[in-house]
Amino acid sequence: MDEDLELCPLPDEVLVLLGELAAPPRLVAHLRLVHDVARQLADWVAERCPELGLDRDAVLFGAATHDIGKTVHRGELSGPGSAHEPAGRDLLLAAGVPPRLARFAAGHADWGPAATAEDLLVSLADKVWKDRRVPELEDLLVDALARAGGGERWSWFLALDELLSAVGESAAARLAYQARHPL
Ligand SMILES: [Fe+2]
Repeated sequence: MDEDLELCPLPDEVLVLLGELAAPPRLVAHLRLVHDVARQLADWVAERCPELGLDRDAVLFGAATHDIGKTVHRGELSGPGSAHEPAGRDLLLAAGVPPRLARFAAGHADWGPAATAEDLLVSLADKVWKDRRVPELEDLLVDALARAGGGERWSWFLALDELLSAVGESAAARLAYQARHPL
């Protein structure tokens, strides 16, 4: 039940855009779930590691729009494919979204050494909402936290693991929420 999940609402400007694009309910539900998890992750990072100087608003916008290209590649809502990634970035740019915010739609599925903490958090939120754990992705975030915040790497690792495990506990409720919204 979404009442149990207490999901925070998507940003108004994103809701307007999704309405204009006639986004399917399943996609809006997914974006809302990933946005809500991203908020939890970003708040944790901002509190535990203020030295990182996280751009919280960018993380939230990125999470709220990361799959927006699926409004034009609807098959990728229920099947594989990555055509939605460049399409999503182009949709956002066409709507006047600045490139630094539109980039999340194109890059959320791959991360590398050049990924920023904001990129990592959007990618991570898109995994842990359903309790999917990706060690190499989490390691990159641990590196960024230890670099900025100092202290022992292992203590960052344990703290992040504890957070992600707690977030993962609601995965079944999130999957049920998403599944009851039609494609
Ligand atoms: Fe996603």
